[in-house]
Amino acid sequence: MLTQITIPQIPHPPKAIIDRAKAIIETYNNGTADLAAAPDNAYIYNSGYADRVYHRNGVETKTRRQHVFSIGEDFEKWTADNIHPFAYEAGLSVSIPKGLPGQGPHCDLRRRYALNYILDCGGDNVRTLWYKEKGCPIERLHDSGPEGKSYWADYPDVEVIDDVVLGPGIWVLLNTRILHSVENIIGYRSFLTVSLPDMFQFPWNNRIPV
Ligand SMILES: [Fe+2]
Repeated sequence: MLTQITIPQIPHPPKAIIDRAKAIIETYNNGTADLAAAPDNAYIYNSGYADRVYHRNGVETKTRRQHVFSIGEDFEKWTADNIHPFAYEAGLSVSIPKGLPGQGPHCDLRRRYALNYILDCGGDNVRTLWYKEKGCPIERLHDSGPEGKSYWADYPDVEVIDDVVLGPGIWVLLNTRILHSVENIIGYRSFLTVSLPDMFQFPWNNRIPV
C-alpha cells in the first residue's frame, strides 16, 4: 500500500514562487506574521477541528494544524500545466502553533492525495508516521473517524505502518486517506502543497507516442 513516494520527475517550482513563499515564511520566523489572521482553509477549523485533543500514554496532547495560503494564480496555473490538469488548493502551508511538537493521526478528507514540496522541515528529525487502525483497512476511503472529523484521537487504537523523515526540495506524494501524523516538530514547518484527485493524469501518463 502506498503511503508516500518522492517524485523527482515533477520539476521544481519556479524560483519566483519559492521566493514569494519564503518571504511569507520569514514573517513567521521573525514574529511579524499575524497568527490570528484566518488562512484560506479556515473553513476546516469552524467545527472545532483545531482544538482536538489526542490521548497518548495517558497524556492529553493538543495538536498543530496547517494554515494554507494561496500564493497566486500563477502557482495554480503552474501546477495545472506541470503536475495535474485538475490539481487544486495549490498554496503555501505552514504548521502552527510553534509551541506544539506534532500533528496527531488524521486523514485529509477533502483530498485523495497531497503533493508537498517542503521548504522548511521544522526540525532535523521531523517524522511523518502512517498508521493502521486495528481491525480496519489501511486506506480509509469512506471513513471519517470516531468523531466524524477525520481524526483518530487515541494512539493506542492505531499501529505504526510507516515512519519517514521527508526532505526538502523535492515533490513528495502523500496518500492522505491513510492515517498519518507528524511528530518532533520544533520550528515552523512549511511546504508548497497541491491537492490531487487521482494519480492517473500526471503528464507522463498522457504522452502520445510518436
Ligand atoms: Fe494530513
